Amino acid sequence: AKQANRPASIIGQRPFPPEQVERRPGCPFDPPAARERLREDGPVSKIRLRNGADLWVISGYDEARAVLSDVRFSSDVIRRTSSFNLTPEQVAEGPSGCPVQEGERGDGMFIFMDPPEHTRLRRLLISQFTVRRMKALETRVQEIAVELIEAMRAAGTRADLVADFALPLPSLVICELLGVAYGDRAEFQERSAITLNTGNTAEEQARAGAGLLEFMRTLVAAKRENPGDDLLSGLIRGDLAADPPLSDAELVDIGLTLLGAGHETTANMLALSTFALLEHPDQLAALRADPALIDNAVEELMRYLSIVHTGPRRIATEDLTVAGVTIPAGATVLVSVPTANRDAARWSAPERLDLTRPRSPHLGFGHGVHQCLGQQLARVELRIGLAELFTRLPSLRLAVPATEIPLRTDMVIFGVHSLPVVWD
Ligand code: HEM
Repeated sequence: AKQANRPASIIGQRPFPPEQVERRPGCPFDPPAARERLREDGPVSKIRLRNGADLWVISGYDEARAVLSDVRFSSDVIRRTSSFNLTPEQVAEGPSGCPVQEGERGDGMFIFMDPPEHTRLRRLLISQFTVRRMKALETRVQEIAVELIEAMRAAGTRADLVADFALPLPSLVICELLGVAYGDRAEFQERSAITLNTGNTAEEQARAGAGLLEFMRTLVAAKRENPGDDLLSGLIRGDLAADPPLSDAELVDIGLTLLGAGHETTANMLALSTFALLEHPDQLAALRADPALIDNAVEELMRYLSIVHTGPRRIATEDLTVAGVTIPAGATVLVSVPTANRDAARWSAPERLDLTRPRSPHLGFGHGVHQCLGQQLARVELRIGLAELFTRLPSLRLAVPATEIPLRTDMVIFGVHSLPVVWD
């Protein structure tokens, strides 16, 4: 019964109300126009959603950093939502049309925890993201990227970049990280793809989600029995020092959290970055002329695309003042990463993609105690994935006009559902 109440996916798939998803006509990469207009109210604004709930939106860069640095803005949105002053209908709908549900959070879902509960799990996880493991993964990322691109080339001169490259790359990398055996990868990938793919019904997604949970339970049991060199085994070994030791349920949730947080994000970032570079030929030419620009390019694409476009979200645990505005206890707060990452006080001509822009910290991987744990790995996947793609397929281009590319504006993670491409 406990599992039945869990969010179907860590990231969540629930469509958003139109006022949150509308994007500016013209450039597909620009944030929702309605959200941009909120800047006129200042860095903090309150909007009334169609379901009657209030949502506090943080649009300024400094204010976004301040909120993400302050743990009195709680990440425990799943549990806390039900305990604040929302009507049952609002809770059922999510306080702001977001994937926040009343119910169980899951024992190891540390992305939805506050310190000190969060600190214990985060510390154990960080100790597993070692330089040695990341180096070994980098080699595998390279091999996987080349294999996928060569398979695309062998199959012809057109592909769906999402299905053939952007989704399988992070999925296989997570398999490496968690130590999923080769024979089990197809099953793992198929299920996780179903949970992400909006073409599937809620029922199909729930079934695939339940299958993944079972898969992860079996994996954890296998690693306890026969540990390897992977992260889950590392956690089990490190467990000896953990106090209290990690339970099986925690390990399962940690595995699912890494999958949920590291798969859909990286996949959409890979596909959307490719789309954005193809739509900015001058920038792509600059990158081709100077491949050393790739690290800068990844940071600028992270800023410019800001794919975590409807979050992070927090709940104010007490009355809290940001930029002179008091946000009341219990309020749901949306830190608008796309808006904060285009704050003109911080970047000149922020609406422009400029790969040569001097680097300045963006909020694409969040900030504060929940800052993305997989950011180094994500950077490796983006750097290698994009470099290999544009080197091995020098004539890569869109197969259809850009306006026909289906955008994922209604999902928690902004991106594309598919990206039809051709090459010579
Ligand atoms: C947290 C973005 C890739 C694992 C976050 C957060 C953001 C983010 C914005 C902060 C959430 C919050 O404050 O509530 C991204 C983007 C990625 C990416 C844009 C790809 C381009 C990855 C990868 C992994 C990963 C590859 C793992 C292999 C995590 C985890 C957290 C997290 C575990 C939660 C950390 C915590 O709560 O302490 N990510 N991420 N992410 N990310 Fe990523």
